[in-house]
Parts: sequence; structure tokens; C-alpha cells
Amino acid sequence: MKNTHTFSLPTIFVIFGITGDLVKKKILKSLYDLYLKQLLPEKFLIYGFSRRRYDDEQLRAYLLEIMNRRIFKEPKQYNAFLSHIHYVQGNFLTISAYEDLALKLGRVDKDWTFCSNKLFYLAVPPVVYPQLINNLHLSGLTKPCSPEEGWTRVILEKPFGTDFESAKALDMQLAKLFKEEQIYRVDHYLAKETVRNILAFRFGNSFLQPAWNKHYIHSISVRLYEKDLVGSRGGFYDKVGALRDVGQNHMLQLLAFFLMDQPKTFTPEEIKKERSKALSSLKLFSAQEVKDNAFRGQYDGYTNEDGVAAHSTIETYFKIRAYSTCPDFVGVPLILESGKGMHQNRTEVVVEFKRPSSNLFDVDKQQNNTLHYLIKPHEKISLDFLAKRPGFSYMLDSHELSFDYHERHRHEEFVDDYEALLYDIIRGDQTLFVSTGEILNQWKFIEPFVETWNKMGIKDLQKYLPGNFEGIE
Ligand code: BG6
Repeated sequence: MKNTHTFSLPTIFVIFGITGDLVKKKILKSLYDLYLKQLLPEKFLIYGFSRRRYDDEQLRAYLLEIMNRRIFKEPKQYNAFLSHIHYVQGNFLTISAYEDLALKLGRVDKDWTFCSNKLFYLAVPPVVYPQLINNLHLSGLTKPCSPEEGWTRVILEKPFGTDFESAKALDMQLAKLFKEEQIYRVDHYLAKETVRNILAFRFGNSFLQPAWNKHYIHSISVRLYEKDLVGSRGGFYDKVGALRDVGQNHMLQLLAFFLMDQPKTFTPEEIKKERSKALSSLKLFSAQEVKDNAFRGQYDGYTNEDGVAAHSTIETYFKIRAYSTCPDFVGVPLILESGKGMHQNRTEVVVEFKRPSSNLFDVDKQQNNTLHYLIKPHEKISLDFLAKRPGFSYMLDSHELSFDYHERHRHEEFVDDYEALLYDIIRGDQTLFVSTGEILNQWKFIEPFVETWNKMGIKDLQKYLPGNFEGIE
């Protein structure tokens, strides 16, 4: 963990896209929760940046309305929290707005007689990233006062690029403008409580370790099912589709945790190195292999959604059978499956073990030992195992050993994913963030699917009825 000593120093949060969806759904609540827990620096201000013609009061009224509607905790604290928030109106693409912001922040530092820490959160559509980060740099906003004083950090949300080349270009631009320790690439799945537990579960329990390879594992499946349709996000979704929306990032990140080797030390660098290595081991498919190992679908009515092209061939469901080239996992099917309009909301990783090599028992009709690592709708780890049924004969039945996070930790408060991320950004801990190596390896794996599906167009795109679709076998 770095820079913990600077944690409590005066800090300014600048949020680009303060009136956008991400702030409404995630960032506002997380900042407020940190505030209530007194985990924000004692002296802090939030500058919201957006195109709307607002002033401070109008922005506060807008945010207050969200807080009231979503019923945040302790309403008596709403106004005290909002008094830390200010507004800057401007176009993300015009440098003058950034210069204006720099003047404002300069005045704050002067008032505080202190060079404050500054955090720039890009809660904006990724197409504006290149121009925005350039403007941040040109205006001097991201220049720390000195190596020891007033750190500056830039936070970007996925998707990082739309393919390998654009991700690489973005990465090169970031590397030119900022130091790696200033860049925080968010994949909020990494901050989910149960996802953070995977390393503890895999490497803190010796009984799993000898079995974690192709000799014992039959398959690993990562599933992210969502009942919701694309809703108001049609315009965004129709440019990416399910695979790039959640497969390229959240799901591959989960898979990496299940495939990776034990890191040498529990440090961000070592953990990311191992995750990235696991991702680079994924077999890259030819067009024919894509056709043989992947399936995609689109829910009925998708092309009538707002913002979606009338003849769109974008997938809202996919199922892929991938493989790793790592000697420990060669030949083990790695299944990635996700969709909108599914029969249930469920995110899980399922590791199915092989049957025992001995033929002592008649287990053919029984469920293999299976580990369910459930992330949504609630956090739970369970293991199906076989045990003898009481009586004279040797009949085996499947049973479950399980650990339900919420039941077990009923009285403990769970930390929300964005709360954990923001807290770590302030502390300067990059463990829960994605490295550029991981992102590029993810794109390398994904690209053959996107290219092949683009060429195939409507061919092989299966329609399904949203609502009770359980995926394909
Ligand atoms: C986002 C995707 O990154 O992740 C959404 O853009 C998806 O389409 C969401 O619904 C899923 O995240 P969570 O935390 O709700 O499981």
C-alpha cells in the first residue's frame, strides 16, 4: 500500500460527468457513505464538471433529489455533505474549461494554504477520453506540486478502447501524459466483496491446491445472467454488444482469478502480473474455431429499443467455450456465458471436478463434485459432494457444504464495490484496478470473436424470447 500517509490530507475530487448515469447510480452514494463513515479526508471538496447550465445551488438540488429518491442513509447529513460540492460548467473537449477549473482549484489551494491532493474521475463516455486526458495534461491540472506534495490521480472506467489497437493507443497516450501510479483503471467487478475473496479462498486453503489443474478439474464456467434488457442504454450497447460490455472485462477478470498462479507476494504488482499471465494463456481462436466454439443470440424486440439500429446484428447473449494453453489447464473447457433478458439475475463461477478415477461406487448418474462461487444475487460459496445414504446398500447422494456470506456476517457491514474503489484511490492502493497488460490480453482474446461475428452479420444470430431464456446447453 502506498501513500497512506497522504490519506488524510486535503483533497479535491473532480468528477467529469457529474450529471451522468454513473454518478447517479454509483459514485454519489459511495462518496456519501465514505463521508458518513468519516473515511474521506477531513478537508475535502468535490467539483462536478458537466455541460449543463447549472450553478452550485442547482447542482446540489439535482444531487439532493437523487439522494431523496434513492433514500440514502441519515438524511440529516445530506446538506452538510452537499455543501462540499461545487459546479464547473464546460465542454469536455474545450481547453478553456479546464483552464477555468485550474484557476478555481488554484484559489482553493491558496485559501487552504496547502497544495491539495487531486483526483480526476472520468465518469464520461469513453469516446471523449483521449481529448479529456489531453486537456487535463495541457491545463496543468494533473501536475503534482512536487513529488512529495499534492498527488494527482486519474480514474478511468471500462471500456478501455473498442479493440486491441484503440486500447493500445489509449494506453500509449496515458503513459505519455501520466505516471503509472497516477492511473486507476476501474473494473468494478474487482472490488466486489466476493471477488476480493477469491484469492483468499484459492490460496488460503491448502485442500484445493493439489486439485487445481486439468487432472481434477473438468470445466470452469463463468456466468453473468441479467434479467434486465438494455433499457435506456441502447445507444451505447448497440456499439459494443454483450461480449464487449461484460465479457471482455468483468468475466475475463473473474476467469483470470480462477486460472492464475499464486502470486509471489500479496502486492498489486504481483497479483496483476499473475492475472495478466493467466489471460495471456487463453488460446486465440481462428475464425473457424470461433464458429465451432461460440454461440450468440439476440433477444426478440432488441432492434426496437431506443438507440438501437433497425437491422442490428449485435449480440445480447453469448456462450463461448475457451481454452487455456497453460500446461496445468490444457484441454479444460472454460465456458463464458452471459446475456440480457435471461430468466434470472445470477453471476457465478462454477468449477466442476472430474469423477474419481476409481470405480468403487456407482456414481455415473450423480452430480460431479462442483464448486459454486456465487457473486450475485447474493454472496455464497458451496461445494456439492457425495455421501452414503443411510441403510444396508451403498447408495450415494449429492449434498452441499456451503458458506453464505450474508448469513454468516449478518451483523457486519458490507462495503459496496464503488465505495471500496474510491477508498483505495484515496489511499493509493492499486490492487483492485486493472493493469494495461490485462486489458491488452483481454482484447487479444476477444478480437477474433468480434471480427468473425461482424463478418457473419445476421447469419447464425439466434433469436430468443427475453424473460425465460435459460441459455443454450
Ligand atoms: C456494466 C455493464 O459494466 O456491468 C452493464 O455495462 C452490466 O451492462 C453491469 O449490467 C453489471 O454489473 P453488476 O455490478 O450490476 O453486476
